[in-house]
Amino acid sequence: MFEIKAKDNRGRVGTLKTNHGTIKTPALMPVIHPRKQVIDVGKYGADIVITNAYLIYKDENLKQEAIDNGLHDLINFQGPVMTDSGSFQLSVYGDVEISNKEVIEFQELIGTDIGTSLDIPTAPYVDRELAEKDLEITLKRAKEAIDFKNENNYKMKLNSVVQGSTFKDLRSYCAEELTKLEADLYPIGAVVPLMESYNYSDLVDVVMNSVKALPDSKPRHLMGAGHPMVFALAVAMGCDLFDSAAYILYAEDDRFLSTRGTYKLENLMEMPCSCEVCTNYTPDDLRAMDKKERRDLIAKHNLLTSFAEIKRIRQAIYEGSLMELVEERCRVHPNLLDACRTLGVYSNDLEKYDPRVKKSAFFYTGPESLNRPEIKRHLDKLRLYDKKRDLVILPPTRKPYSKYIGGRLGDFYIYGSQMEIDLDNTDFMVLDVPFGLIPVELDDVYPLGQNESPRIYDMNAIEFVGDVISEFTEFYSQTLIHSKIIDKFEIGLYNIHPDSHDIKFKKDDIKKIKAIANYQFGEEMGEALFSGDIKIEKSKKTGKIRHIYSGNELIANMRASDSYFVLSTEGAKRLHNASKFPNNRVIVNEDSEPFTREGKSVFAKFVVDVDKNIRSNDEVLLVNEDDELLAYGKSLLSYNEIMDFNTGQAIKNRKGIK
Ligand code: GUN
Ligand code: ZN
Repeated sequence: MFEIKAKDNRGRVGTLKTNHGTIKTPALMPVIHPRKQVIDVGKYGADIVITNAYLIYKDENLKQEAIDNGLHDLINFQGPVMTDSGSFQLSVYGDVEISNKEVIEFQELIGTDIGTSLDIPTAPYVDRELAEKDLEITLKRAKEAIDFKNENNYKMKLNSVVQGSTFKDLRSYCAEELTKLEADLYPIGAVVPLMESYNYSDLVDVVMNSVKALPDSKPRHLMGAGHPMVFALAVAMGCDLFDSAAYILYAEDDRFLSTRGTYKLENLMEMPCSCEVCTNYTPDDLRAMDKKERRDLIAKHNLLTSFAEIKRIRQAIYEGSLMELVEERCRVHPNLLDACRTLGVYSNDLEKYDPRVKKSAFFYTGPESLNRPEIKRHLDKLRLYDKKRDLVILPPTRKPYSKYIGGRLGDFYIYGSQMEIDLDNTDFMVLDVPFGLIPVELDDVYPLGQNESPRIYDMNAIEFVGDVISEFTEFYSQTLIHSKIIDKFEIGLYNIHPDSHDIKFKKDDIKKIKAIANYQFGEEMGEALFSGDIKIEKSKKTGKIRHIYSGNELIANMRASDSYFVLSTEGAKRLHNASKFPNNRVIVNEDSEPFTREGKSVFAKFVVDVDKNIRSNDEVLLVNEDDELLAYGKSLLSYNEIMDFNTGQAIKNRKGIK
């Protein structure tokens, strides 16, 4: 029913199948008023809409029409329709005249595609006691709704809404309990007040503590999120659906939505975008119009602008530039910047979902970029890196560093015990923002070679680099720090090393391919892959390493765009022999063994177990439960996702082994 097609951070481009067609996510569902809808939202780009089943139920005429002709005819939209249950009315008026079972029954009766149980939206910042009491009712009703749906073989899909006010643990608890119920979709509820009051930082806590406990295989809906300013942030946290009455509510009030915030018509000297409305009318034209005509035009702008942002976000996910977009969007309001900073607190969680390799380079857009999962991931790998006795830290040059490092390197200051330098027992690393220390051998591995940062460092970057140096010098007997670094990063002075003039960097291709293999597949895998009579073939045009042979046998190709290895059959066999589960492995079940050996791609439902370190775009070994090598391929998903999904492809098979 839901499949992931592309990923970036926690964001995903997916497809969601319903009884009225399949849609692409992230998607925005405009709110349709069943009685007084004036805008044809389908014309402006809506693929799915949401309306309120309770409002239909309460109006005798609408109710009868919906029962007779069906919901889709009633609202004149033939694509997928989601219905809400009246919970929002419950939260505003304190009561509704319908029971949980009744509203579920009614939604199925009128043919909704996705129905909702009668959850209790608990406001932010209430007493814990109230949040807990409401939550128990929400959970009870969610279970009742699912049981009822299953007993009666309902065709509609069902939402189970995550509540828990602003208590992080209650949000996680609610999400965990709802996950056990196996609902079809998981909205995150009662966040409208947080967005209305611009409490975006608390919104991040609420959403992150919900999604981390929700299944990866089900879509999540941020209920009532309709301002395009927050879409990118919400998608980066793993939200797939939004709904908006904002387009019409703001239009009624002469306000224009924009990714930069909201504009009031009375203040506009210029139109805010280049949509059809904004190119055909001036602010004066609109001000001179009658109210209704103006409202419809502003609503049209609001929809076009919102859908444009959704498309931009999906494109950013395909490219791997979602976080750059989030960081850009979050600069339009200080409270959004707080939200972006709060998101940084969750980088451990985000790292589990972020693809290892992306199409676009990592751009440092400001201090918030230092919290991105790629940096955490690199430093974690570096902590495990097979280290020599001494460390030489070089200043950054143009990339790839190894191309520009040479000759007499200059003076080095000593940190640690002073010994004679032994260049064969020394690691050479470049100090740079944002990855801290980059072993020279890894200088073109993604994202260490594919990143850009300003050359004028901000204070956070200087502090970050200082912390990295303090930590990593502890791993070495002595560290020699280049004099340029001492100045640039305001590092306390030590003595100049007497051997400074002897320190030369020597390029070593064998060392390089082993280092990359260790970084990619784990410690000692470089030695295991590249033993014997190793021959390295380089591109005549670029001089970059392309193929690695042992004798005449190909072991691996190095991908030009990111310098990771793609194994050959021999390479896969060597990696397999030298390691054991879980390293780089995906275990498939008995049924799928013959297909896997034939080179067929592996569906998630056939996977028995996976190495927890596998992320999307990793090269992996496909084995059976006896750890026999069946094939090798590329993972499309990360560990968590492969384990959670029961549909769709998990691993692209490169080659089966008969
Ligand atoms: N619309 C906006 N917030 C909510 C919520 O918490 N629950 C439901 N059912 N609908 C909503
Ligand atoms: Zn416009």
